[in-house]
Amino acid sequence: MATTLVPDLKQSSGVTDTLGRPLRDLRISVADRCNFRCIYCMPKEIFGSDYQFLDRKELLTFEEIERLARVFVGHGIEKIRLTGGEPLVRRNLENLIEMLAGIPGLDLTLTTNGSMLARKAQALKDAGLRRVTVSLDSLDNEIFKAMNDVAFPVEKVLAGIDEAARVGLAPIKINMVVKRGVNEQSILPMARYFREQGHILRFIEYMDVGHSNGWKLDDVVPAAEIVEIISADMPLEQIPPNYPGEVANRWRYKGDDNEVGIIASVTKPFCGGCTRARISAEGKLYTCLFAVKGQDLRQLIRDGISDEDLSAAIGTTWANRKDRYSEIRSSLTEGMPKVEMSYIGG
Ligand code: GTP
Ligand code: 5AD
Ligand code: SF4
Ligand code: SF4
Repeated sequence: MATTLVPDLKQSSGVTDTLGRPLRDLRISVADRCNFRCIYCMPKEIFGSDYQFLDRKELLTFEEIERLARVFVGHGIEKIRLTGGEPLVRRNLENLIEMLAGIPGLDLTLTTNGSMLARKAQALKDAGLRRVTVSLDSLDNEIFKAMNDVAFPVEKVLAGIDEAARVGLAPIKINMVVKRGVNEQSILPMARYFREQGHILRFIEYMDVGHSNGWKLDDVVPAAEIVEIISADMPLEQIPPNYPGEVANRWRYKGDDNEVGIIASVTKPFCGGCTRARISAEGKLYTCLFAVKGQDLRQLIRDGISDEDLSAAIGTTWANRKDRYSEIRSSLTEGMPKVEMSYIGG
């Protein structure tokens, strides 16, 4: 396997966008497919049996992903998160992890629905993955099904989380999207369970990503309400962020060190500190989760661009970045074309 050597770009770069935000966090989607059909992400009516997913040859190869990762590291990237769709549906993903783990100084992680984690956690850990984030919207099978629209037992996801903990993929974070009228009654049971397990549970306000989920503001359970629900049973106190621009607001249970997070991208947008770039499974670079158009990096690579020119092209895109969608979310943005979350990665 050819490893591309990128010249010492780290020192030459440190690019910031038009709002002064540096590039620190790269999210790479490795598959646009998923074995779940979450109603807020890949609703069955749209992502049915005739839905055209990407062809194998359209996906970035592991070598292309590694090359891009190295070029991005040259721009100051400190964390790489593999996303999807469901990243673990990509065959031999541990080979990619091993390649990326060879890049020094990276926080390397992935977001998974946990359905294949019990089987794969050890191989992922052995390949050099540091930690995992698992999406889980309820501990109740019926409510879980109402969210993911497939019959997948909660117990299997919990077994995946246990195995990830056993092999040392820590800290483990759990992401729970909250949708009004569907899984709000799961907030407290989830908080109690993961407090006991010592994993970090994060509640996510349901967002208006893509066009297919039929999002309405009424479907959002605001962060403040989530904090109230938990606090009434287990008092919370706010704690400072781990790093500038952290997506989740952090809270700690009074009396112990266990924490929960709230990702309030609707009621408390965090675009001001947004240092995240996203690459879709087919190699398009997006500078916002809600972006309309991506820059075709795969085309540049397959046309034979040099590392220097590739790096310069990415730097220019970031330097021109103006995105702050969640801050300007309004009737003006409602009809805007947007890409789907399963395509761009969460
Ligand atoms: P850590 O590295 O553990 O701090 O992860 P993280 O919180 O940055 O990432 P994670 O992938 O767990 O993010 C959780 C969820 O927050 C995602 O699935 C999205 O729903 C939401 N989210 C993450 N980044 C952004 C963002 O840039 N904009 C918006 N609007 N939402 C985001
Ligand atoms: N709103 C909020 N989060 C979403 N995710 C997907 N769709 C949405 C949405 N509409 C997030 C979930 C999941 C991750 C893969 O993407 O947190 O954990
Ligand atoms: Fe799949 Fe995750 Fe989207 Fe659910 S949220 S459909 S598990 S990619
Ligand atoms: Fe970043 Fe766009 Fe999310 Fe704002 S809406 S935090 S700019 S990805």
